[in-house]
Amino acid sequence: MPSLYLHIPFCRRKCPYCDFFSVEGHSAFLAEYPRLLVRHLELAGSRQGWAGPLETVFFGGGTPSLLAPEAVGAILEAAARLFGLAADAEISLEANPGTVSADSLAGYRSAGVNRLSFGIQSLEESKLGLLERLHTPREAIDAVEWARQAGFDNLSCDLMFALPGQGVIALERELDHFLALDPEHLSCYGLSVEEGTPFAHRHRSGGLALPDEDLYAELFKAVHQRLSAAGYKHYEISNYARPGRTCRHNQRYWQRQDYLGVGAGAHSFCANGWGERYSVPADLALYRQELELGSDPAESLESFDRRGAMSEQLYLGLRTAAGVCEEEFRSRYGIGVAEAFPEAVTRVGKRLRFEQGRWRLDLHGWLLYDHLISEFL
Ligand SMILES: C[S@@+](CC[C@H](N)C(=O)[O-])C[C@H]1O[C@@H](n2cnc3c(N)ncnc32)[C@H](O)[C@@H]1O
Ligand code: SF4
Repeated sequence: MPSLYLHIPFCRRKCPYCDFFSVEGHSAFLAEYPRLLVRHLELAGSRQGWAGPLETVFFGGGTPSLLAPEAVGAILEAAARLFGLAADAEISLEANPGTVSADSLAGYRSAGVNRLSFGIQSLEESKLGLLERLHTPREAIDAVEWARQAGFDNLSCDLMFALPGQGVIALERELDHFLALDPEHLSCYGLSVEEGTPFAHRHRSGGLALPDEDLYAELFKAVHQRLSAAGYKHYEISNYARPGRTCRHNQRYWQRQDYLGVGAGAHSFCANGWGERYSVPADLALYRQELELGSDPAESLESFDRRGAMSEQLYLGLRTAAGVCEEEFRSRYGIGVAEAFPEAVTRVGKRLRFEQGRWRLDLHGWLLYDHLISEFL
């Protein structure tokens, strides 16, 4: 088990577009949550099959930056004690710029976190207002400066594009604001309207002027062009990195390698056999109850057969620039990609390339990913 994901399901205020599992406000659970996570790690550690040392650790959310640095330190100590921690482990933490201070960032660095992912979304006042974010552009810029002062040399920023009323010129201006922060990594997500969120409600009643398909394509390509020209590699549909700065944790996920997920709402993947995925119910009261009874709160979500494993290997691998290696696929499944999925390969056509032993989608293929990948499922 060389990867650990910790889900921190708390947010100071829920953003109207987001459907990640998190509860609003300083829930009473937040104070006791670190203790529950350590208990969960102990239970998972005693189960066979999860063996360290950990190569990557990821505090995701929700808003992990609501945890005190001491709590992050205690969780990391427990993880190191139970599984071991590789000397060069990547330890990431997602931070909302509206919840950090120079001191808290310095505290995370001292606790062992060596990569921060800031949910900045936009550096323009009006867009942050629309997204109902907690922070101003200035506060986001300060957070990045404080992180540098605290010694972080691996920073990522989340940017949301395809926002209501946004055209290519406005997006290019936005990208330039982000580039001025000089992050090692950028995640750029097109706004997706998620069922059950206030944005979905507003969208249905005609209150969100979202870009049409053609404009979306132009925006997606504008992100690609601007960031590529600035020296970032577009290494996954939504992710860009300076050389050597891809997110190692997510790379392992896209390669279908083992990871343990702890925390309410977390998922795990165990690659034994054709692979099995587990999930922890997204319910804090149940989470506490299970842990207090000494039982592992994870339930089996999906047990893969060979066909399902092959589909998922393509589903995840084709999101990445590295794509899927034919030789590795054949040695794992005893069959090549084109033999396993002859109709899908034909239907996806020229958007799917086979070059130097690897299958990859081109840029236009990534744009049509949801549609194209359904051919393999
Ligand atoms: C789980 S959040 C973690 C960051 C932290 N909670 C924050 O917001 O500052 C991960 C990222 O997902 C993106 N995201 C969330 N909902 C989205 C949506 N509906 N459409 C596009 N991107 C979204 C945002 O960029 C967000 O920063
Ligand atoms: S975007 Fe981040 S801060 Fe906003 S609700 Fe989602 S997880 Fe919480």
